[in-house]
Amino acid sequence: MELADKVTVVTGGASGIGAALCRRFAEEGARAVVVVDVDHAGAQRAADGIAADHPGTKVVAEQLDVADGPATTQLVDRLVAQFGGIDLYCANAGIATGTGVDAPSRVWQQAWDVNVMGHVHAATALLPHWLERGQGYLVTTASAAGLLTMVGDAPYSATKHAAVGLAEWLSITYGQRGITVSCLCPQGVRTPMLFGTGDGTASPDDGASLAAETVKAQGVVEPEEVAQAVVAAVRTGQFLVLPHPEVADYEAARATQRERWLGGMRKLAARIAGQ
Ligand SMILES: NC(=O)c1ccc[n+]([C@@H]2O[C@H](COP(=O)([O-])OP(=O)(O)OC[C@H]3O[C@@H](n4cnc5c(N)ncnc54)[C@H](O)[C@@H]3O)[C@@H](O)[C@H]2O)c1
Repeated sequence: MELADKVTVVTGGASGIGAALCRRFAEEGARAVVVVDVDHAGAQRAADGIAADHPGTKVVAEQLDVADGPATTQLVDRLVAQFGGIDLYCANAGIATGTGVDAPSRVWQQAWDVNVMGHVHAATALLPHWLERGQGYLVTTASAAGLLTMVGDAPYSATKHAAVGLAEWLSITYGQRGITVSCLCPQGVRTPMLFGTGDGTASPDDGASLAAETVKAQGVVEPEEVAQAVVAAVRTGQFLVLPHPEVADYEAARATQRERWLGGMRKLAARIAGQ
């Protein structure tokens, strides 16, 4: 799908990857870019900046907690009425926790609600419109942690695996009915999630954990490179979006030599933990 003249929506659009996606979609000549975030002031700031640079694109900010299913449906219905349809929806909002398996239940629940149910709510809200229309494009942001693992963050690893599984399920179930799904799986990206904002507001993790330090030690790409990879994938309808191409090799090693892969990861985890 080409993005020129399209109506696009991005959750987590106030910051990092989401903000880069919004800006890039405007650069591609999208008719509308809807910057959605739980942080309304941040979404408005991002929208104002993009609108100033791209007067040909209608850029609006919307407040939404993606964990809230009814609110997601309300927003999607309203945007469909306002713009005559949504062409591309990026379910991108996500949170890291920096915690292990012993994380409090509320942390596990929050990771599940945002990283998985956020995508479920988006799909549930969008599918009736898209099936009626016979087309629609959903990009979900999982992570390389959803194909491999994230040392030091159990809720993130488990929920991002679930997000990849859900994206595959949606692609398999609706792919023949005009719905295209891509799943974005980056390793480290230079955003507040990984590097923090310094004020503790970016995410429950805010870039200070062992997990964040581990990812930073690998190759870190810029949010704009991720946006470029997404636009390229959307152009061809490719499912898996890998801004770090080496992740495909790691995933192949995991699938075909699992014991060896696990052994290597155990050593990495022990090294990081200083054991
Ligand atoms: N930064 C990385 O290294 C990296 C790597 C792989 C995957 N990801 C994924 O990319 C996505 C974007 O992360 P980022 O790095 O840009 O992080 P970020 O912290 O810079 O931005 C995330 C945005 O999501 C918003 N958000 C959080 N919870 C929300 C909710 N419940 N409802 C609506 N908005 C909410 C935040 O307010 C923030 O603006 C996430 O899904 C993350 O898991 C990031």
